[in-house]
Amino acid sequence: RQHLAFISRCRPFSSVGRADVDYFRTFLPTHAILTTLPNDSGSVAPAELDVYNRDWMGKYTGRATTVVKPRSTEEVSKIVRWCNEYDIAIVPQGGNTGLVGGSIPVNDELILSLANMNKVRSFDPVSGILITDAGCILQELTDYIAPHNHIMPIDLGAKGSCQIGGNVATNAGGLRLLRYGSLHGSVLGLEVVLADGTVLDQLTALRKDNTGYDIKQLFIGAEGTLGIVTGVSILTPAAPQASNNVVLALPHFDNVLPLYRKVKRSLSEILSAFEFIDRTAYDLAVKHGQGRGLSDEDVAGAQCFVLVETSGGRREHDEEKLNDLLAELLDAENPLILSGVLSQNPAQFSSLWALREGVTEAISKEGKAYKYDISIPLDKFKVVVDATREHLAERNLIGEHAVKHVMGYGHVGDGNLHLNICAAEYTQEIQDALEPFVYELVASYRGSISAEHGIGAAKTHALHYSKDEVSIELMRKLKALFDPRGILNPKKILE
Ligand code: FAD
Ligand code: MLT
Ligand code: ZN
Repeated sequence: RQHLAFISRCRPFSSVGRADVDYFRTFLPTHAILTTLPNDSGSVAPAELDVYNRDWMGKYTGRATTVVKPRSTEEVSKIVRWCNEYDIAIVPQGGNTGLVGGSIPVNDELILSLANMNKVRSFDPVSGILITDAGCILQELTDYIAPHNHIMPIDLGAKGSCQIGGNVATNAGGLRLLRYGSLHGSVLGLEVVLADGTVLDQLTALRKDNTGYDIKQLFIGAEGTLGIVTGVSILTPAAPQASNNVVLALPHFDNVLPLYRKVKRSLSEILSAFEFIDRTAYDLAVKHGQGRGLSDEDVAGAQCFVLVETSGGRREHDEEKLNDLLAELLDAENPLILSGVLSQNPAQFSSLWALREGVTEAISKEGKAYKYDISIPLDKFKVVVDATREHLAERNLIGEHAVKHVMGYGHVGDGNLHLNICAAEYTQEIQDALEPFVYELVASYRGSISAEHGIGAAKTHALHYSKDEVSIELMRKLKALFDPRGILNPKKILE
């Protein structure tokens, strides 16, 4: 098969064809290739590819005809080398839980799923360093290291499906960032298949390594546009001896920041999460059965809620601190909170967390989500949600058959608001009302248009709101250097 330059010019990539599948069959077993190509001996019905061609939100649809599921780094390398030679674009796919359309083909790219690369390579219970295949599911890694009294440094609502490679590729933040920092700190090494099939082995288990440029950092958050992550070395912290949580109901958003200051001062080293849910998000979580709601009496008059988690070394000590804090908050002359519910056992602990973690799922049950994952100054969280709601109302877009809810929730400790607009359908009218309105608002506060979910396909057109031309140009040069033919996840991050 020939590479034709003119094809490359007028249609950048070749579609996957029978010859390609035949080649993959020389080293992949039947179950590791799903293809809808006609006349292929192992072809499957198009519906079997739906779970790979549709994203978690049901917003993006790809047209891939073929999914390959290699079992080793060597197999990934062979596939990528072939695709690079024959101009076939590839979309790396982990658990397909991303929220910006990054894991879905924009056309008919080959989907390379990491799902069959799911072995733990090693775990050192002394250092806490875990070396694992990229396709391991986050929850399974958590379960694997739990008997050694370690936890993963990252936790998120999608933990039952997302893969560690996907977490690295998106630089996912999540619910533990406040305590354990970002993956840029806890990932110690990576193994990556580069665009020409070369394997970059930087899978070190070293805490310290100042030997020039730290190349692995470029792949963290690159969303599969610079290389395919096949192995991850990650530092896992010792499990806390005790964890507690409490959900606090607040009368106004204005109390959130003074409360955050107070909680930080009172709980100091045991504070491990400070998460925010506004009333709309809370009500939706309860409506859709996410966690155990507070009593009607507790939530009466509450405009928003905060979940505080503590993780520490001694249960009695932590509980005493938390109880003292609650008593102080409730006894104050002008209390910052209306009420608080403290978990009493592991089931309640999970149930309170579910109120916060389950918001994403609740929104997806309620309707279609327009998601804006933004970093803005903390005191602007409510301003942005209110301004967006008013903006939509002025355009008569609020209603049961248009925008049903506008809400905010997120990671106060990280300055990260999730502004979500839940509508009956995805429509161009709503989209046009939201953009560039939201991005301009974020830019006016010098915020980021993507705090933790990435750019994917959803935000390529908005990158310039958060990155200047010099930065974007350098990003383009890096892309050209790592992937000269542009086969890796085209049209993601950069247009
Ligand atoms: P996918 O969705 O499959 O892929 C995401 C991107 O990474 C794509 O661009 C893909 O091409 C690329 N990719 C995947 N695997 C690889 C690989 N091995 N090598 C190279 N590129 C790869 N995000 C947060 O940051 N914080 C949260 O709290 C959070 N909560 C969530 C809760 C829910 C319920 C859901 C559905 C999502 C949530 N997310 C959150 C989104 C988050 O980005 C993803 O859940 C997760 O990090 C993506 O992992 P994945 O394996 O599903 O990757
Ligand atoms: C979260 O914090 O819940 C996640 O980032 C998912 C979302 O934004 O809905
Ligand atoms: Zn989040």
